[in-house]
Amino acid sequence: MSEIADRLNGRTVIVGSGLAGLMTALALAPEPVTIVTRAALGAQTSSAWAQGGIAASLGADDSAELHLADTLTAGDGLCDPVIAAGIVAEAPAAIAALERAGVRFDKTADGSFSLGLEAAHSRRRVVHAEGDGSGAAIVRALVTAVIATPSITVLEGHEARRILTDESGVTGLLCAGDNGAVTLPTRRIVLATGGIGGLYEASTNPMGNFGQGIMLAARAGAVLADMEFVQFHPTALNSRRQPLALVSEAVRGEGAVLVNESGERFMAGVPGAELAPRDVVARAISGELARGGRVFLDARVALGDRFATRFPVIDALCREAGIDASRQLIPVRPAVHYHMGGVATDAAGRSSVAGLWVAGEAASTGLHGANRLASNSLLEAAVMGMRAGCDILAGPAASTPVTQAAYPLPVVADASLVRPIVSRHLGVLRNAGAIHGAVASLLPLAEGDGPAADPAIVALLIAVFASLRTESRGAHARTDFPLKRAEVVRRAMTLAETLEIARATASHPFARSA
Ligand code: SIN
Repeated sequence: MSEIADRLNGRTVIVGSGLAGLMTALALAPEPVTIVTRAALGAQTSSAWAQGGIAASLGADDSAELHLADTLTAGDGLCDPVIAAGIVAEAPAAIAALERAGVRFDKTADGSFSLGLEAAHSRRRVVHAEGDGSGAAIVRALVTAVIATPSITVLEGHEARRILTDESGVTGLLCAGDNGAVTLPTRRIVLATGGIGGLYEASTNPMGNFGQGIMLAARAGAVLADMEFVQFHPTALNSRRQPLALVSEAVRGEGAVLVNESGERFMAGVPGAELAPRDVVARAISGELARGGRVFLDARVALGDRFATRFPVIDALCREAGIDASRQLIPVRPAVHYHMGGVATDAAGRSSVAGLWVAGEAASTGLHGANRLASNSLLEAAVMGMRAGCDILAGPAASTPVTQAAYPLPVVADASLVRPIVSRHLGVLRNAGAIHGAVASLLPLAEGDGPAADPAIVALLIAVFASLRTESRGAHARTDFPLKRAEVVRRAMTLAETLEIARATASHPFARSA
């Protein structure tokens, strides 16, 4: 065994250092744990890029019941209401825990939380830290707390490549480090690896995130849920930058409006207008772009000279693209932003594989249903990170891990072959031909052992789940099945089951001709 593996043998291993991973590690203290992270602690995480904040019913006119009602409406019938009720009820406690960990949330002159409004929220309830730099401020504070916690060991520059299992569950984690393969023997792994934005060409997420947690869990036999539900943020800054910069919904929350190239406010007649649920706004913008039009966010009247003070991060991103948002229109387009599906977990973050917990975007708890309510993602990451940590602490002490043999590292993953397929066939609007075409193209990559295999597995899961949902619901919009079915189905399958369906789909003549 390597010196690192020897030293860290048997500790709980947390993969990922965004909000969910950092909160799990802090919740477990003083129990010794190891955080495995590809980049520097907290860097290259979607959490650190979040401009929105954390949704919590802290206003005098608000309640957990109202927060739940908005969450269930956005989720379009597919949320697990019990899970959702529990998570939104814990939001004020999560904010308090974050404050204890050192996060300084924005407050008004009288010391109460400064609450922002985002789409599909019936109340002002989004708590920020340093305005539109919220994610960075929260992650920075937690990184400081983690570094100051002696029980947490951080392995930076280490990439999790495979979860090792035996008949009783998790036995270890195979990682790639600076000097080659490192196997960490452990009976307890928490995956907090973030989302799948890197599977798409137009994304607001770190491009390196192709759904590693989903791939690792799927290869280990875990059940996946609701994989077809990919959320497209309506207003990414339309530029050549990759990934695209986000123009937060909070800008529309402050009154900015959407107009097309003719200056027409095309959302005006839609219930909720610019603050309608995200999927509704994303489809409307896609429609404008599909007819060859252009779409802009107009903040000139609502914010004008206040833009740079209210949204300093977005102002800088606009200026980088040559736009003065206080005086000019901001060109926008939809881009993939969040994944509601993921590894199926229970209320404590446990997956179907013994010893494997999943928290944050990589998980599918049932909170988000078919469409996530804005700023419920950092909330879920904080609550579920804490819950996973507490669940591990409450469980039996880990049995002595088995000594691991040396395992060869799989090839380094590369999503570049997968991105064009996913972007073309699994976007805002889908149909059977496109989805089956994606399955046929992705299956050989997913079953191979080349660099595309790991991302192709995640993409194939999305495609197969999408093929089975013959309705339009939330973020999953099908031009061939535009209506919602009366019966509500949450689907959960393993990779093996998905591959079986993919093989049958790929050999269907419709798939070959797509
Ligand atoms: C935004 O600021 O528009 C994004 C917030 C979120 O995705 O929750």
